[in-house]
Amino acid sequence: MNRQDPFRDSDYLQKNQYKDSSNLDARANLHRKFSTAKVRWQPWAFDLLRLEPGMRVLECGCGPGWLWRENIDRLPDGCDIILTDLSPGMVAEAEAALATSNHRFDFQPSNIQALDFADSTFDVVVANHMLYHVPDLAQGLAEVRRVLKPNGRLVAATNGDNHMKELPLLIPEELRQKAASLRMRGEAGQLPFRLENGRSLLEPFFAQIDLHLYEDSLWVTEVEPLLAYAFSMLKPGVDVPETAVAQLRDLWAAKIEADGGIHISKHSGVFEAYK
Ligand SMILES: C[S@@+](CC[C@H](N)C(=O)[O-])C[C@H]1O[C@@H](n2cnc3c(N)ncnc32)[C@H](O)[C@@H]1O
Repeated sequence: MNRQDPFRDSDYLQKNQYKDSSNLDARANLHRKFSTAKVRWQPWAFDLLRLEPGMRVLECGCGPGWLWRENIDRLPDGCDIILTDLSPGMVAEAEAALATSNHRFDFQPSNIQALDFADSTFDVVVANHMLYHVPDLAQGLAEVRRVLKPNGRLVAATNGDNHMKELPLLIPEELRQKAASLRMRGEAGQLPFRLENGRSLLEPFFAQIDLHLYEDSLWVTEVEPLLAYAFSMLKPGVDVPETAVAQLRDLWAAKIEADGGIHISKHSGVFEAYK
């Protein structure tokens, strides 16, 4: 395993972090419960697909299929939608939730770096919050471009440097060593594919690139979902002692008690890239 950068270690991601949706769900739960956004994330992201009846759509890194599960009533008729993910566990969860819908879904484990589809197959390829995990991103983007029809679009969500920037600061100095290992980010602390560098990484493969920013922040009024979020991204082999968890719990509870909640910034958006 590439212990230097578990964030882009496909074997580790598939067998551990994303074996099933439990870690991802701990993070999504914090956003669902404490978001201040006017429009929820999944409907907002779905609107950017601009689906029309009969379109062919591929999703790479579909996770448990939330994009479709939360928008199932808004899906136009006659679309062919293929959901893929590196993790067979994720694909199985997406399939269990969507296979009996009235729409045409297909499901298969697949790595974005080697897509098993013919050239010019899809109107839209979705890659939400996953391009930062791809070890050979140029290869992954070349594959996306290859399977898109002429004028087809890649729709790819990611985060920016200011996303959840308060979280490490909420951890006291004496726990900082552990804090450094709390968040499973790239070694530099930045996502490899993020709002700040996404355009330049996409440019070699796409003719036109638009960026849509999502306005949101969190106002967290309960401790346990924040603890679950923080501990959903431990690096492999890192074990945080119960005493450290208890210390954080007390500290964050006191802050919520004193201020009524904890403010956390968000910095997310979607690149729309035309072939
Ligand atoms: C942060 S989750 C996002 C899931 C979903 N797109 C969402 O936004 O809720 C990242 C997903 O990408 C998948 N993934 C990671 N590397 C991948 C790769 N090389 N090819 C395909 N999927 C990958 C993971 O298994 C995981 O399900």
